[in-house]
Amino acid sequence: MSKNFKIKIPATSSNLGAGFDCFGLALDIYNEYEIEVNDQNESFEISTNLDSKICPNNKDNLFYTSFLKLFQKSSSKPAPGIKVKLNAEIPQAGGFGSSATAVLAGLITANQILENKYSEEELLIKACEIEKHPDNVCAAMLGAFCLSSFQNGILKYKKIPWNLDIKALMLFPAAFRTDTEDARAALSAQQSMENCIYNLSHSALFTAAVITKDTELFKKSISDKIHEEARLKLIPGATEIIQAAKDNSALGATISGSGASLIIFVDEKSNCSKIQEQPKEIWAKN
Ligand code: HSE
Repeated sequence: MSKNFKIKIPATSSNLGAGFDCFGLALDIYNEYEIEVNDQNESFEISTNLDSKICPNNKDNLFYTSFLKLFQKSSSKPAPGIKVKLNAEIPQAGGFGSSATAVLAGLITANQILENKYSEEELLIKACEIEKHPDNVCAAMLGAFCLSSFQNGILKYKKIPWNLDIKALMLFPAAFRTDTEDARAALSAQQSMENCIYNLSHSALFTAAVITKDTELFKKSISDKIHEEARLKLIPGATEIIQAAKDNSALGATISGSGASLIIFVDEKSNCSKIQEQPKEIWAKN
């Protein structure tokens, strides 16, 4: 018995300013998993263009641990052999949802073998349990702009079309990564009422900007007071890059997810060569 299929999952950027752990945006680059299911029970092999520290060729691989969690939940039989060829376009620097793609690809593979026993929502809940946050996995599964909440095991989510004439520049440092857990540990567990109101109102305004295609409102509302300031200290040069992008007429610039990658939004028609060159110079200096 051998079964082959492909799973293609987009990069995602989460938070987008005020929408901490809630906003996720699918981007136009992908990780593609070519899956072969074979008779060599409980075997696993992955070949990839990623660093083996990020994507190990053994059963600790996030794709495989996610696959096994769902498979073993529903079947007492030994898992079939899985061979994966991963062509990864998503930068491994962290911040563009590459781990969400591994989790979803593992769960989707198990679900294929289990003859689609689980619904989209059930797969997303499992993905949130593994990833801990819903933002990247929802956007990676559904595409476009997604709002999500995952608390006490309950997932609520909504996909919203992204019709703004805005393009995203993805910036990722070649020389370092930040770990999501470290980036969360850097945040203050207590937030002032003022900061909470700021983020609530700006996330509502950002969502309205996307729905009504209001670029001016987008520019005003992509802003945060809960996570960004603390995390910018973990990413050398990031504050300078974000300021330089804004000075060069970017519509918004912020940390992508928990970093260390950054995302800059510019008008679809703008010539962004200066915005593209400056980060390289600043990171080289840092
Ligand atoms: N929203 C998460 C964070 C990262 O900023 O820590 C992705 O789930």
